[in-house]
Amino acid sequence: MFAAVFFCFVFFAFFALYYTSPELYTFFLQERKGTKMWVFMRYRGSYMAAVICVIIFCMFLVYRTPVDEVSEGMCACKDCVRQQTHSFWFNELYDLSIQPLLTRKNYVLSEDIFKYWKGLQKNKKEANYTEVVEQLFSLFPDKTQYSDASPKRCRTCAVIGNSGNLKGSHYGHLIDLHDFVIRINMGPTKGYENDVGSKTTHRFLYPESAMDVDNSTYLVLSPFKILDMEWLISAFTTKNITRTYKKVRPSVNANRQKVMILHPAFIKYVHETWLLKRAKYPSTGFLAIIFALHVCDQVSTFGFGADQYGNWYHYFEKTSHNIRTGAHSGSFEFDTMMQLYLENKIQVYRGR
Ligand SMILES: *[C@@H]1O[C@H](CO)[C@@H](O)[C@H](O)[C@H]1NC(C)=O
Ligand SMILES: *[C@@H]1O[C@H](CO)[C@@H](O)[C@H](O)[C@H]1NC(C)=O
Ligand SMILES: *[C@@H]1O[C@H](CO)[C@@H](O)[C@H](O)[C@H]1NC(C)=O
Repeated sequence: MFAAVFFCFVFFAFFALYYTSPELYTFFLQERKGTKMWVFMRYRGSYMAAVICVIIFCMFLVYRTPVDEVSEGMCACKDCVRQQTHSFWFNELYDLSIQPLLTRKNYVLSEDIFKYWKGLQKNKKEANYTEVVEQLFSLFPDKTQYSDASPKRCRTCAVIGNSGNLKGSHYGHLIDLHDFVIRINMGPTKGYENDVGSKTTHRFLYPESAMDVDNSTYLVLSPFKILDMEWLISAFTTKNITRTYKKVRPSVNANRQKVMILHPAFIKYVHETWLLKRAKYPSTGFLAIIFALHVCDQVSTFGFGADQYGNWYHYFEKTSHNIRTGAHSGSFEFDTMMQLYLENKIQVYRGR
């Protein structure tokens, strides 16, 4: 169809040219003696061709492929995250050109990103970023992950927050049905399978929130400073970094082949674009949600926000203290999540 329209335009252009300016037309013929020219010569002077073209063009305008059909091909799920919607808000913020994960190809940071990132958590002794990244990729895999979106793929993802509203929710089975189950920081599964499931494909953490993961789980580091990258290296080698701004685990058990590092530019994007810098930095949970929007076709969230009584606490902690006033404002992130839910971009399971 597009080819037909294209040829019509070519025909049409030359007819127009012929009748308005014969000299220019002859000039063109001398300049370009392609096969299209030959076709044209056969029909030269034929008004029929022009008429047919106009008719085809009009039919094309009337029956052209609806926009929805194009975007339905984005993935094999019923609704796809990437699908264009009429949400101005979402289209404005969602930027697939920003790569969530660090690789050797994309690690160089522009000046403003580097400045932003270094401003997040200051350190007295600064290591050389380039050298640290080189060391990272000599230890951990360096490949572009999850760029396999296709009309045949329906990748469903569950992002599991650590909210107390998971207690007694019986979401476990539902959560385990997802292709990716992304967990945050120290949120355990052992002993809570009924409510939080037992599968973990990815765990997002930073040094101060680290825990062991089993060898089939991807460990995704959210680096808020260069020292976090150094800690990751140390945790798999010398184990001699034991403090950042507070005491941290010197090592973690994890499969070295399954370590990934969030890109500082992605952290900046989430912080400034999605959260409008309304928190000191984005939480690991919120980073995981936006990560899922980039690599998954359908996203469900569990265990975010307060419980039914308005209490904010972790499902695995006995005492319920208020975490709404922490370094990252849980409530503002939750508002953004609810907006994503209203725009039909994520599913939100509120628990109890
Ligand atoms: C960091 O290390 C690289 C390579 O070793 C070097 O070219 C660069 O100048 C260093 N940067 C700073 C700020 O020291
Ligand atoms: C992963 O763990 C399983 C069981 O603990 C073990 O059999 C397997 O060899 C491990 N794989 C790697 C790559 O360490
Ligand atoms: C850790 O060990 C390495 C190599 O042994 C050394 O270069 C580095 O300075 C040590 N770091 C700390 C914080 O002790």
